[in-house]
Amino acid sequence: MCGIVGYIGGREAYPILIKGLKRLEYRGYDSAGLALIDHSESLNVYKAKGKVSDLENAVEKNDTTGNIGIAHTRWATHGEPCQANAHPHYSASETLALIHNGIIENYASLKENLQERGYEFKSNTDTEVLVQLIEYFKNTETKDLLTAVQLALREVIGAYAIAVLDKNQPNLIIAARKSSPLVVGIGEDDFFLASDATPIVEYTDKVVYLNDEEIAVLKKGEKLKVVNLYNEEITAKEQIVKLNIGQLEKGGFPHFMLKEIYDQPECIRDCMRGRINMEGTNVILSAIIDHKERLLNARRFIIVACGTSWHAALIGKHLIESFCRIPVSVEYASEFRYSDPVVSSEDVVFAISQSGETADTLAAIELAKSKGAFIYGICNAVGSSIPRATHTGSYIHVGPEIGVASTKAFTGQVTVLAILALSLAKEKQLISQNDLEIILKELLIIPDKMAALLQKNAEIANLSAIFTYATNFIYLGRGYCYPVALEGALKLKEISYIHAEGYPAAEMKHGPIALIDAEMPVVVIATQNGMYEKMLSNIQEIKARKGKVIAFVTEGDNVISQIADYCIELPETIECLDPLITSIPLQLLAYHIAACKGKNVDQPRNLAKSVTVE
Ligand code: F6R
Repeated sequence: MCGIVGYIGGREAYPILIKGLKRLEYRGYDSAGLALIDHSESLNVYKAKGKVSDLENAVEKNDTTGNIGIAHTRWATHGEPCQANAHPHYSASETLALIHNGIIENYASLKENLQERGYEFKSNTDTEVLVQLIEYFKNTETKDLLTAVQLALREVIGAYAIAVLDKNQPNLIIAARKSSPLVVGIGEDDFFLASDATPIVEYTDKVVYLNDEEIAVLKKGEKLKVVNLYNEEITAKEQIVKLNIGQLEKGGFPHFMLKEIYDQPECIRDCMRGRINMEGTNVILSAIIDHKERLLNARRFIIVACGTSWHAALIGKHLIESFCRIPVSVEYASEFRYSDPVVSSEDVVFAISQSGETADTLAAIELAKSKGAFIYGICNAVGSSIPRATHTGSYIHVGPEIGVASTKAFTGQVTVLAILALSLAKEKQLISQNDLEIILKELLIIPDKMAALLQKNAEIANLSAIFTYATNFIYLGRGYCYPVALEGALKLKEISYIHAEGYPAAEMKHGPIALIDAEMPVVVIATQNGMYEKMLSNIQEIKARKGKVIAFVTEGDNVISQIADYCIELPETIECLDPLITSIPLQLLAYHIAACKGKNVDQPRNLAKSVTVE
């Protein structure tokens, strides 16, 4: 979703802005732009439809000098992706330029009021309304940019992260946020601004995450000042970010997605570090120790999430219900927030999110909080909005995920959910030490098994090349692997644009089996677990209708290999940890099909990494 970058200080702003936009490309966007105040104090705005490289080409012969600038990648909400709708937007007099991430919900009425006062609009965006409103207050109430921004934002209903330049105040950037993320980087004698820390870490590790309705005043030669909409000063909380540039680069892989698939063994080790002891005899999750009573006495758990995180939540339900005997419901955050849910102070709500910025998940948290529930976040992006909005939580610690299609975050989420379920079961004395150790010891060797199965990459790549013809796919799984089927289908849809559906295998008979013919590839997860025999029957049913079966089975399986059209063997594990193994070949299958079809794997069309609008 839209990305924001800003710079003010002694260096040339343009290269910093362009590099920053490239670091934010993973968020997903369809146009880009930037504004610079040059050394002669004119305010230049450049924009282009398409990629950041198109913007670079567009500005090639123009003046890009200046020590102050703001830049933006736009993911269209109001108005099609085109140059006119790209940000920054000028105010009518072209003295102000503004970039915005979010949605101004009352933009239509604000626009009408401004039009009645003679303002004209060059774009279809809600953002242009905001910059005109700021200019209106600058013309009528105040000469000061900060005050005009405060007055305008008090009129706004909706979500925003903004940055504004005023050519009459060439040493100043005003930035503000509500519900959309914004981070200020504090350098030696300069400031950086961005939607997340990735464009900043190259220059400084000192950051301030703005909170809702906070405004940052970035003035050359002065200290960072943070105020609210009523100009009351707020003490900015400086934090140190622990990100290194290596984590943000592709490291020799053709795509971030493939790198992140390969990162998984190491990521899962990081995720377990300090939580499971080396001997595999004990498990500790600090959030559980700190909030034991609240968690153990919960009437039920509710998990809210979206997309891939929602699939991980389904596996979490299975783990928690099996090991802890606590009822768990899993809700799409977008549905939960509008469903008038029955939630009370005896409930614990878990919010799962890779980015920690998903607008629907944040809104679901606020709703549950307002009903007195205790909120536990499971996130990846450190310091993001969700961890700050929850009572407690656990990070998954898999490092920045840049590819838009989520891979290592999914296995990280499942790992944390397994650790959570085992820790609670231990506290509730529902698991014997022997059973606990069997699972913990297996968890500790899962990274090695992941590394072993990544050796199958070439085999899966060859298989993928056969299926580039397909326009539909079905994915089947049962039990712990039913959500893996959903996740495998989502991966394929997202990056290859092939229609794919995931089903619990036994549901086939109730409708989808009508789709099976000799053209239909059916991906079946049929590892050796309690559901094996059932899966075998489901495969027979598909073969009887001539479907093309691609089976993922446990090493040494010589039954399914006789029936399935294609068979990939995977390392054996225990049933409750199956998703950590079976999800990876499905990620590879989707990756290779998309790559074979020449798709933009890391930045699929229409998708955003961080869905900061509802
Ligand atoms: C799928 C994907 C999305 C996200 C969803 C939630 O590959 O990336 O479905 O899982 O948008 O995002 P987070 O986890 O950041 O809340």
